Amino acid sequence: PRVVVLISGNGSNLQALIDAQSYGELGGEIVAVISNKVDAYGLKRARDAEIDAVALPHNEYDSREAFDGALIKVIERHEPDLIVLAGFMRILTPLFVHRFHGRLLNIHPSLLPAYQGLNTHARVLADGGEEHGVSVHFVTEELDGGPVVMQAALKIHPGDSQEDVIEKIHAREHLIYPIAVRWFLEGRLQLGPKGATLDGMAL
Ligand code: GRF
Repeated sequence: PRVVVLISGNGSNLQALIDAQSYGELGGEIVAVISNKVDAYGLKRARDAEIDAVALPHNEYDSREAFDGALIKVIERHEPDLIVLAGFMRILTPLFVHRFHGRLLNIHPSLLPAYQGLNTHARVLADGGEEHGVSVHFVTEELDGGPVVMQAALKIHPGDSQEDVIEKIHAREHLIYPIAVRWFLEGRLQLGPKGATLDGMAL
């Protein structure tokens, strides 16, 4: 199976997927990495792993629709079975989401449905929250609202800084994202009419 990864930045989650692939644990092949930011460090990670790295700067397009249209074309050229969003910081249009329905995974740094949107760590800390975490979910039209397929939680200890929290978040992201991708590529994880299923059972 073929995987396309979309990024906007550092790409540490992309690296976790590349590493899993190199250990034979991804269940498929990353055939392309696409970034909407030309200077994303993740593009270098892709090139270092000899993966096709494509920069598609969104600011060269007049509208969200035009950018997504171009993005769809680049993605489809690679004939992916799965599109993985790994720190891709653009809201996708309904057209895009429909085109790849059931084949789009995202990772979000919160225990969804809590803390959808941006700046989750700062918001959890400001609320004095003791629990935080990460979620892998199918992407639907609802921003950060698609069916959750996997989560990992962490405790926030008194005195934890935002950097401490981000470090714990990343460790968990890098652990669970390759597993979720593998389950999808093995056909175990699916998006059905009533939501996500694992081995045919509702999640
Ligand atoms: C991750 O924390 C992910 O949850 C969020 O963006 C961040 C991307 O980090 N969507 P990286 O680029 O994979 O290092």
